[in-house]
Amino acid sequence: MPIAGIDYDEIAKVWREAGLSVRRSGRDARPAFVQQLSHFPDQYLKAVTYGRIVGVVFGTHDWRKGWINRLGVLPEYRRRGVGTALVLACDKAIRGHGIGIVSALIDEGNHASAAFFEKMGYLTDVPVMYYRKLDRSDI
Ligand SMILES: CC(C)(COP(=O)(O)OP(=O)(O)OC[C@H]1O[C@@H](n2cnc3c(N)ncnc32)[C@H](O)[C@@H]1OP(=O)(O)O)[C@@H](O)C(=O)NCCC(=O)NCCS
Repeated sequence: MPIAGIDYDEIAKVWREAGLSVRRSGRDARPAFVQQLSHFPDQYLKAVTYGRIVGVVFGTHDWRKGWINRLGVLPEYRRRGVGTALVLACDKAIRGHGIGIVSALIDEGNHASAAFFEKMGYLTDVPVMYYRKLDRSDI
């Protein structure tokens, strides 16, 4: 069943091929993902297609702050502006609600992603330590 017009298996395939971990028994599982989309209509699932999906992003917000999540572009389609188009679409949709801050969490050492977000005008001028409490390790 397509989610927001996009086929879930294709989305998961892009995530995997883009090198993102897919928590298939956790928050990236199909039912979890469908639930996230249905409960929070202000989240934005975007995809760029060249006959097939080559890049996806999942934008969210909680009315306080926006987030760019799950951004991934197939390796063979990188450096063609796909990531830029995806982030601009999310960023615009989130800011359209009057939310003036959009953020992204980048794994330490992910230099490509860091360079990408810097090019998009995102700054890492706040030293942050990310703490979290998980119900399960695979969530
Ligand atoms: C990060 C990612 C989404 C970028 O997607 P993309 O479609 O290649 O991005 P764009 O083509 O829109 O790049 C825009 C600009 O970002 C910068 N950029 C993108 N990839 C870069 C890289 N590997 N090294 C240096 N700069 C890079 C460049 O300035 C680029 O402009 P240019 O090609 O004219 O030089 C992609 O590399 C990816 O899927 N990475 C793996 C998954 C991932 O890390 N996701 C992010 C998790 S936070």
